[in-house]
Amino acid sequence: MSAAKSQACAPESDALTARPAWQALAAHHAEIGDAHLRELFAADPERGTTFTAEAAGWFLDYSKNRVTAHTLELLTALANDCGLAGRRDAMFRGDAINTTEQRAVLHVALRTPASQKIVVDGQNVVAEVHAVLARMSVFAEDVRGGRWLGYSGKRIRNIVNIGIGGSDLGPVMAFEALRYYSQRDLTVRFVSNVDATDLIEALRDFDAAETLFIVCSKTFTTQETLTNAHAARDWCVAQLGDETAVARHFVAVSTNVEGVTEFGIAAEQMFGFWDWVGGRYSMDSAIGLANMIAIGPENFRAMLAGFHAMDQHFQNAPMAHNLPVLLALLAIWNNNFLGATTVAVLPYAQYLKRFPAYLQQLTMESNGKHVTRAGNPVAIETAPILWGEPGTNGQHSFYQLIHQGTRLVPCDFIGFCQSLNPLRGQHDLLTANLFAQSQALAFGKTADEVSAEGISEALAPHRVFEGNRPSNTLLAERLTPATLGALVALYEHSVFTQGVIWDIDSFDQWGVELGKALAQRLLPELTPDDAVALAHDSSTNALIERYRRQRIDEDADRLPAAVD
Ligand code: F6P
Repeated sequence: MSAAKSQACAPESDALTARPAWQALAAHHAEIGDAHLRELFAADPERGTTFTAEAAGWFLDYSKNRVTAHTLELLTALANDCGLAGRRDAMFRGDAINTTEQRAVLHVALRTPASQKIVVDGQNVVAEVHAVLARMSVFAEDVRGGRWLGYSGKRIRNIVNIGIGGSDLGPVMAFEALRYYSQRDLTVRFVSNVDATDLIEALRDFDAAETLFIVCSKTFTTQETLTNAHAARDWCVAQLGDETAVARHFVAVSTNVEGVTEFGIAAEQMFGFWDWVGGRYSMDSAIGLANMIAIGPENFRAMLAGFHAMDQHFQNAPMAHNLPVLLALLAIWNNNFLGATTVAVLPYAQYLKRFPAYLQQLTMESNGKHVTRAGNPVAIETAPILWGEPGTNGQHSFYQLIHQGTRLVPCDFIGFCQSLNPLRGQHDLLTANLFAQSQALAFGKTADEVSAEGISEALAPHRVFEGNRPSNTLLAERLTPATLGALVALYEHSVFTQGVIWDIDSFDQWGVELGKALAQRLLPELTPDDAVALAHDSSTNALIERYRRQRIDEDADRLPAAVD
């Protein structure tokens, strides 16, 4: 049992582990848990073609997982027993499945075609989605076409997205992923960190007269975003010499129209979304405005179509061929039965360099939960720690641990058959590495193979690869807006499916609140004030005192008009 779970005070919920379907899996694990992938492949020469599935432009090879066909039957039975189909339908219908916040969870509506309806509280939310998309498209085209001018009449050449968490990670990931399709005379940057360095470095070579800020915040109360937005506003007004310039250089994306207008952005310059879109599920809402400006409305809509194709597949495909369900069931097996505490996502595509960071919020903020929906402590491990880097870079960094370390690290390899760029020979090299890694992880190198190479007995233990390390390979023809949308939807629904099996609320994030509240309380204490005694624990008191002694107390709270 984990340290976190051992601290839980109430008795652990045994609802999940007491299910016959779970117990059947536990018994099955005792039988086949030690089977080596070498044996599984030897026993079934067709395994590499049968343990596969395909949808929405993505091919999944899951044959290199430590499962048999029976494992998958048992996992599917568990998903059925946990009511996956009913919970999925409830989500698509707009039921308030985020129970701790009493909210619908309807990111799927963001990519539902205009011809369809989803009614929430008497409103057809699909029509609302398309109304916002239409406004975004007009604005994006105006900026791209040089019709939206800055205060001094100059064309906008720089876009700065200010947001954090879901209001940053999705947009920046998608922008990087689709950079190939972007309009190259626009420079797009993303500022998230409250560390002023982020903003200052982003603005260093920008002229305010040519810069448009998109302030993205679902709540419009997030401290980091508002602090950066105010500093950017000051910088803009200082450079352009007029408060009214804000109207030409700032737009907002939010659900909070009062907050936006209070900040000084007119409601007409706000692009809205809804409380039924979770921050980490919002990159296909107006939160993606920077990306739409970069790649154009048509490409943005193609991305939405890719999302929708995967949504439909998730809704309609039988479980045995359902990519998000398969990905989730394999994740449950690796985590809860094989004991893997972590998972690596390894895109062999430089354009997907921010994809692991994006998935960290999606998976860990969604499923990093310690109680069930009813509030009982969970009896099993929930979300594993997700991390990753693009290949081949990671191979020269942390792959040693994945191949020969003591931990089991299931990997998701992601690749494309075609490169978007020239130097195609390098794409073959990249792909050869992708395939080689999953092969090495699965099959390893035995002591016999090592000694046949003439390696000394002393060195042999260092040269053996035990293999049997599970991985999935996801392949698409090429990276397009549609394949990106489908890929994100694939992981969204996998996260949902795992949450259903663990019976947790995947759509709240109460765990982020305590740190925020404590930071609010600590902030005024960082300024030396001997009259006020610090009343924290001895560690925090000492850290504050050290900081007070070393901080620079100078009145430099405003960004200089010109950052050079
Ligand atoms: O603090 C966590 C969080 O609430 C995330 O869930 C969210 O994506 C992020 O902050 C940003 O929130 P907002 O879009 O409201 O500024």
